[in-house]
Amino acid sequence: MPIMSETGPEAKEEARFLITGAKGFIGAWTVKNLVERGDHPYVFDVDLDSHRLEMLLSPSQMERLSLIVGDVTRYEDVERAVVENGISHVIHMAGLQVPTCAANPLLGAQVNVIGTLNIFEAARAHRELVKRIVFASSQAVFGPEEFYGAKTVPEGAALLPGTLYGVFKQCNEGCARVYFKDHGIPSAGVRPGAVYGVGREIGITSGPTKAIKAAVIGRPYTIRLTGGVDLQYVNDTAQIVIRCAESKIPGAKVYTLRGSVVRMEEFLAELEREIPAAKGRIRAEGNPLPIAFDFDDSALVKDLGEAPRTPLAHGIRETREIFHRLLSQGKLDTRDLET
Ligand SMILES: NC(=O)c1ccc[n+]([C@@H]2O[C@H](COP(=O)([O-])OP(=O)(O)OC[C@H]3O[C@@H](n4cnc5c(N)ncnc54)[C@H](O)[C@@H]3O)[C@@H](O)[C@H]2O)c1
Repeated sequence: MPIMSETGPEAKEEARFLITGAKGFIGAWTVKNLVERGDHPYVFDVDLDSHRLEMLLSPSQMERLSLIVGDVTRYEDVERAVVENGISHVIHMAGLQVPTCAANPLLGAQVNVIGTLNIFEAARAHRELVKRIVFASSQAVFGPEEFYGAKTVPEGAALLPGTLYGVFKQCNEGCARVYFKDHGIPSAGVRPGAVYGVGREIGITSGPTKAIKAAVIGRPYTIRLTGGVDLQYVNDTAQIVIRCAESKIPGAKVYTLRGSVVRMEEFLAELEREIPAAKGRIRAEGNPLPIAFDFDDSALVKDLGEAPRTPLAHGIRETREIFHRLLSQGKLDTRDLET
């Protein structure tokens, strides 16, 4: 049975959400979903620039946010945000991506590991406030598809991360388990794959989103990735994150997410169907991701009910429409296409 039956309007009314990394891609969509249903989320980020939130929210919706400038690597910043705002649920999305962790492992560990520990420590110190933590793990905790026999990777398969980023995420999952065992702090780690949608501007798997943007403005673009990929529409990811936050399932849960599992050629074909001007202009080259891409997500479905799964064509269309709107308003930033 879906856990939604255990979360009623009462639970929602009491909830005070702190979203770390809320000015980032998935964080901003999580904020958007919370605001659209009437919540007043607390937005925590080290970045002063709110451009993703401004792309997704109206000025009046922006006014419903409480903006906190803070650094997850500083325990005092995290604790102050929790205590001063009576936070009941932390949605921890702040993090550095694969290339940054590879280029600067010490910084990567500070933000991705110590930053996550700071969230758990603040929850441990303020059990009277914090009821649950949701944190972003990643499919990067897994190894390449050949490790798993090139078929759907089952729940519980061995974690074999091939990047420091993946190792840091695996470490966070282990820490969450121990914080539940030793201190009873319930949590859920979500493992997205290649998330796409408006606001996806950095990271290895940002290519498909940049390709949609390039197609909208009629520019050529090359995605630096081939092979299989699990493309997850960001609105689905955000909704799953919120559902995890509101779940009352005890323990330290970890959920692998699953979107549209496709080959890159299928993505290109779908893009050309949705935006015919992309034909012959958008290409893909380079190596496949060194991470499996076809995962079983039955643990999520068992605990939380059927997951939102926007079909790829629909996700491309919605992304195209938002990019079109931003273009017509003179607000479409195309600088990310150069990277
Ligand atoms: N986007 C994906 O496809 C994907 C896939 C798997 C996992 N994830 C994970 O999901 C989370 C969110 O990803 P995203 O794509 O939104 O990333 P993003 O880079 O768009 O956003 C991350 C946000 O974290 C903030 N941040 C960085 N360091 C911080 C610090 N020290 N203190 C406070 N805030 C800080 C950044 O300013 C940024 O706004 C990350 O943990 C990422 O590893 C993302």
